[in-house]
Amino acid sequence: MRTTTGWRAEGGELVRSALQRRDLRADDIAVRVDHCGVCHTDLHHLRSHADGGAPLVPGHEFTGVVTGIGPDVTAFAVGDPVAVGNIVDSCGTCPPCLAGQQNFCREFPALTYGGTDRHDGSTTLGGYSREYVVREAFAHHLPEGLDPAAAAPLMCAGITVWEPLRALGVGPGSRVAVAGLGGLGHLAVKLAVALGAQVAVISRTADKADDARALGAEDFVVSTDPEQVERARDRFDVVVDTIAVPHDLAPYLKMVAWDGALTQVGYLGPVSVETMDLLVGRKKLTSSGSGGLPATAEMLRFCAEHGVVADVEVLPSARVGEALERLGRGDARYRFVLDLSDLD
Ligand SMILES: NC(=O)c1ccc[n+]([C@@H]2O[C@H](COP(=O)([O-])OP(=O)(O)OC[C@H]3O[C@@H](n4cnc5c(N)ncnc54)[C@H](OP(=O)(O)O)[C@@H]3O)[C@@H](O)[C@H]2O)c1
Ligand SMILES: [Zn+2]
Ligand SMILES: [Zn+2]
Repeated sequence: MRTTTGWRAEGGELVRSALQRRDLRADDIAVRVDHCGVCHTDLHHLRSHADGGAPLVPGHEFTGVVTGIGPDVTAFAVGDPVAVGNIVDSCGTCPPCLAGQQNFCREFPALTYGGTDRHDGSTTLGGYSREYVVREAFAHHLPEGLDPAAAAPLMCAGITVWEPLRALGVGPGSRVAVAGLGGLGHLAVKLAVALGAQVAVISRTADKADDARALGAEDFVVSTDPEQVERARDRFDVVVDTIAVPHDLAPYLKMVAWDGALTQVGYLGPVSVETMDLLVGRKKLTSSGSGGLPATAEMLRFCAEHGVVADVEVLPSARVGEALERLGRGDARYRFVLDLSDLD
């Protein structure tokens, strides 16, 4: 085993700890993690983590540099800039895997943290650490020209909104609204704008209206203002809902245009839907999570071409507690990224 350092949950806090990484298997690469984004999912996991259960080291959107390669590795060399997202393995043989949708693997993909390693059954430990070991097939070359800190959030927040935008055919002329302007939401705005869509933001207050315009949105709907919600009725071909908490879908479905779709990618859990809200206008309700390997590679190429990265506040990893606390109270503009070099 190899030893590295990371931030492990203990007693409700993240504590700097020694972590074990596996010795490289034939198709593994070792990655020095330089930057890891702080996703709201990390907060959900930390809130529900119990001491004595499976170990928890969050972090599933990171960039770094390859520091070692197994004997069968062909796509990477030591020194290559690399990006890793929230899936690190899958069965490779089921229909979704064969279709390049490893995120829908029938055996459930191995998640970057809190997942189960497919070979030794251990719990995976995430990117809030200085080193990660991953199968080369699940790592991506970081395109030149993308800032490694600002690109890290593309690997979860970015791909999570890219897949539904693509699957729902967003392009020039599409009318897209993004509900919840946070980590996922601000990247959804940038990506939809770069795809040529007309974009609106739906947010709880008017506080982020200037930011939304700076991100490229042409319109802004305050979700707590019934008049604004009414004016937005039947207006959007696609509503991307990234809101991090359970909420009533009805107002968002009402904003979907005939034959359009509400795609719920933020809060994942049971929702109740009034079927009449779907019936009137033949509206669709969809969801998805993360993305397949080909879509992730496509997104990275697109981002390099269009200069799309996250708006980030980079903090030394020792300030991870502050980042999580501020994210929890909605004070992120728009993604915290940890600089892990302080773990050396
Ligand atoms: N499907 C997937 O694979 C996937 C992947 C990553 C994350 N997620 C989930 O997506 C959600 C968003 O993640 P994120 O990292 O973008 O979070 P975030 O940066 O905290 O953004 C969430 C946004 O939700 C809105 N919101 C509305 N009511 C809220 C409330 N009571 N508390 C907090 N936020 C509220 C806020 O937007 P306004 O201020 O504009 O109202 C906030 O900016 C999380 O639930 C996360 O677990 C899903
Ligand atoms: Zn995430
Ligand atoms: Zn599979």
